[in-house]
Amino acid sequence: RAAPLIIAIDGPAAAGKGTLARRLAAHFGLPFLDTGLLYRAVGRRVLDAGGDPGDAAVAEAAARALRAEDLDRTDLRGPQADEAASRVAAIPGVRAALLDFQRGFGTAHGAVLDGRDIGTVIFPQAPAKLFVTASVEARGRRRWLELQAKGVPADLATVTEDVRTRDALDQARAAAPLKPAADAIELDTTALDADAVFAKALELLQAKLAQPA
Ligand code: CDP
Ligand code: CDP
Repeated sequence: RAAPLIIAIDGPAAAGKGTLARRLAAHFGLPFLDTGLLYRAVGRRVLDAGGDPGDAAVAEAAARALRAEDLDRTDLRGPQADEAASRVAAIPGVRAALLDFQRGFGTAHGAVLDGRDIGTVIFPQAPAKLFVTASVEARGRRRWLELQAKGVPADLATVTEDVRTRDALDQARAAAPLKPAADAIELDTTALDADAVFAKALELLQAKLAQPA
């Protein structure tokens, strides 16, 4: 294969994108980028400065000022960070500011990236695209279990509703909305554990990569 391998993993919140993307990266010996962290870190910078994540000028400035160490922060997850990430992500200037970094990450040596628009906007030419989904109930439950494990008190119905609201926002926005690329392979993980998802994804990707481009 002449071009470095890019594997694009997109889908709604808590579908299992990151879990799968990490395992595929290890399997193929590729670097992995969780692109959601970029939007989370921008949202966090805006909140820290007392700003409104929906304010385009403020959010764009935060995106342009983003530094690698912002991605190592431990406070990028949780309901407040989820919402702030999704709000800054709807601003075209924020997305534009983060584009080169994402493309540059994969261009030299290939990569596995997970997010919402990897297959549609960041790497539309990627030969391998998966759109990972699961029912909103299953995804709400997964997010709730994560909070439980961290000892964060949370109510299952509220967490599920937050996931539903964020998906709706991500799908409805004009800038790089959440949707499968025309050539993405859809994988419903509702009834599958992480091992089963990995096995199925590998089978689908190997079949896809064996086809002539
Ligand atoms: O990256 P994304 O938000 O799509 O999901 P994730 O962080 O990979 O997975 C969300 C949670 O669901 C994690 O706690 C995973 O361990 C869990 N999970 C699961 O229960 N079953 C799967 N098939 C995949 C992930
Ligand atoms: O882990 P989870 O699936 O809940 O979210 P995430 O992947 O960390 O993404 C957080 C938010 O960032 C999403 O709700 C999107 O609004 C935004 N995002 C995006 O717009 N484009 C991406 N490539 C990745 C994330």
